[in-house]
Amino acid sequence: MQIPPHLVNEHYNDRYFDVVNAIEEARYIYFQDSGITDVLAGQGRKEFRIGETGFGAGRLLIALMDFLDKSGVTDRAITYNSVELHPITFERMESILGGFRTEAGPLIDLLVGAYSRIEILRPGWHRIYLTRPFGSLTLNLWIGEALEMVRALTIPCDAWFLDGHGPKKNPAIWRHELLMAIGEKTVTGGTCATFTVAGAVRRGLTAAGFSVVQRPGFGGKKAVLKGVKV
Ligand SMILES: C[S@@+](CC[C@H](N)C(=O)[O-])C[C@H]1O[C@@H](n2cnc3c(N)ncnc32)[C@H](O)[C@@H]1O
Repeated sequence: MQIPPHLVNEHYNDRYFDVVNAIEEARYIYFQDSGITDVLAGQGRKEFRIGETGFGAGRLLIALMDFLDKSGVTDRAITYNSVELHPITFERMESILGGFRTEAGPLIDLLVGAYSRIEILRPGWHRIYLTRPFGSLTLNLWIGEALEMVRALTIPCDAWFLDGHGPKKNPAIWRHELLMAIGEKTVTGGTCATFTVAGAVRRGLTAAGFSVVQRPGFGGKKAVLKGVKV
């Protein structure tokens, strides 16, 4: 099947995500087993911190808000730390996300509207604060390189969504130094997940302190990888 050109990240010659099942795929790969539902269902803990490489068009964030909105929890605070080396315009974001507008139209409008107000050409942190039925979501988006963002985090994350193109197209996002830094910025018992099960990624995450397991894939993917920081 021909991939529409607006879905392809020209810097890596790879698509941002697979529009078919984009929301279900995000749930299966990234949210299930991430610890987020356990933590949010518990009475004691109200906060959860996520890290993501890289932000792209914000599909994972839209899927996360959809998931949490439907979860029935209220009064929770989610911090979503993400990074983007090649930020796209809000018009392009809207066009890319258009593939699942019927499922998440209001959330797409909310995120695109907020994103349109940040200066994407200014490097460093940008903050977007959104209120939702589940509580609040603070997006801390670092414009720049992933390692800089991870090093700039002052509080470790509870879960990492590793979504920065496959290792063949983008080896830099899977490099040893970066995965080690991600391991250091993860709480004990925190999780990571990714769509690639490449040996170098498995070894890199293991060296970074994660106990990783391969799980059956979803959609076009044969297998996915999930890890727990030990
Ligand atoms: C597969 S796309 C991400 C899709 C995104 N999670 C979404 O839901 O729309 C990977 C993104 O990582 C970005 N990226 C790649 N290498 C990076 C790096 N070293 N630092 C920061 N961002 C990077 C790319 O520009 C691209 O937007």
